[in-house]
Amino acid sequence: MSERVEVGRTDAMPEGWQGTVDVDGVGVLVVKFEGQFYALRNNCTHKDFPLLGGDVSMGRITCEKHGAKFELATGRAKTLPAVKAVRIYATETEDGVLYVRPL
Ligand code: FES
Repeated sequence: MSERVEVGRTDAMPEGWQGTVDVDGVGVLVVKFEGQFYALRNNCTHKDFPLLGGDVSMGRITCEKHGAKFELATGRAKTLPAVKAVRIYATETEDGVLYVRPL
């Protein structure tokens, strides 16, 4: 089973913060939205464009390439042109440090 990967100190991550970490060779996007942390594979399922930096609202991140939206909590594709869900990861905080772990 894969180990968790350290992201960083949560007090350095304000609302709306985004960053990426490498989990088993896969780039994972971490987003803080409404005080919660979410982690999902940093690849749009439409054309493999990075999701990092996409606009986040209503619990969804928008791919900047063609505008598909993915639900942060589930990874589900909510709007075309993407139809496949993006893989999600677990987030956990311990002693003020955020970690990501494969589900
Ligand atoms: S690459 Fe993301 S919507 Fe096309």
